[in-house]
Amino acid sequence: MRVAVTGANGLLGGDAVALLNRKHQVLAVGRGPCRLPPGSHAYVDADLGDGHSVEEALRGFRAEAVLHAGAMTDVDGCERDPEQAWRVNVGGSEQVARACHALGARLVAVSTDYVFDGEAGPYAEEAIPNPRGAYARTKRAGEEAALLLAPDCAVARVAVVYSGRPGARSTFATQVVEKLSRGEPVKAFADQFVSPTLAANGAEMTAELLLETSYRGVIHTAGATVLDRVDFARRVARRFGLQGEIEPVRTADVKLLAPRPLRAGLDVARAAALLRAKPLSIDDALDRFHAEWSRRMAA
Ligand SMILES: NC(=O)c1ccc[n+]([C@@H]2O[C@H](COP(=O)([O-])OP(=O)(O)OC[C@H]3O[C@@H](n4cnc5c(N)ncnc54)[C@H](OP(=O)(O)O)[C@@H]3O)[C@@H](O)[C@H]2O)c1
Repeated sequence: MRVAVTGANGLLGGDAVALLNRKHQVLAVGRGPCRLPPGSHAYVDADLGDGHSVEEALRGFRAEAVLHAGAMTDVDGCERDPEQAWRVNVGGSEQVARACHALGARLVAVSTDYVFDGEAGPYAEEAIPNPRGAYARTKRAGEEAALLLAPDCAVARVAVVYSGRPGARSTFATQVVEKLSRGEPVKAFADQFVSPTLAANGAEMTAELLLETSYRGVIHTAGATVLDRVDFARRVARRFGLQGEIEPVRTADVKLLAPRPLRAGLDVARAAALLRAKPLSIDDALDRFHAEWSRRMAA
């Protein structure tokens, strides 16, 4: 099958390309040069924010299925430049959805727990979004663009994505490992409740959703454990056998441009019932993260 992945240089997209390459003809759509390890995929540099490049790439490839994982994910960057956030997160989703409609392709568009205000999480799929801030608002609008314009579409929400694979970008989890390894303290928000999602687990759930189900509408494909970020950092430290200071901080005490949902987290019961690839518990996910990190250190 011809499967395209946007955001291919990103955390979730990169793992999805590696996974899908095993059985399918894959077009990896990224920004700038390819930063993926060598594989059987084709690669195209296309801008989600320019209104046409990604749509043209998907049409040229005659995609039969698309995993849309590309997005402007810098939450404070979106707040600084809401125009660009809109172009990429809404306009990009629009491009992808229009191409899927024209091609009769199935679409899974990846989204976020930030569509919720974080007053009463964890949230199930039926909960009413109330996005706050430019990233959250543009991701929510991108969900609607995908659901409205692509007839065969699922929106898959994830949260706090992290990966230890070689080449994956830095995240909170990798910073915890790196800082504690250097003997530096780590600050962590004690009042942000989240559903950390190992990119590889998110990739396997969204790939299965795309190619092995006909599910339409919203579904939560995050990790299975909701916990605060201090607990998350402590569990990372424990799994890696690292000592050191993890300092709890309150979100309100740190100057951040964009609002953060506090009591967020996603209820993943629907994905657990529907998919063979289950949302991983934090302990199982950290075992895999540790294995990825070991391969990265050995590379
Ligand atoms: N990361 C998280 O904690 C998190 C949490 C909840 C939901 N999500 C959602 O999960 C999905 C996957 O994100 P991720 O975690 O894999 O984040 P990521 O690593 O930041 O990946 C996003 C990718 O989109 C690409 N991109 C940004 N602007 C672009 C543009 N104008 N044109 C083309 N590509 C562009 C980025 O390119 P560069 O590599 O060149 O920057 C990056 O590779 C996104 O929909 C995101 O909103 C992420």
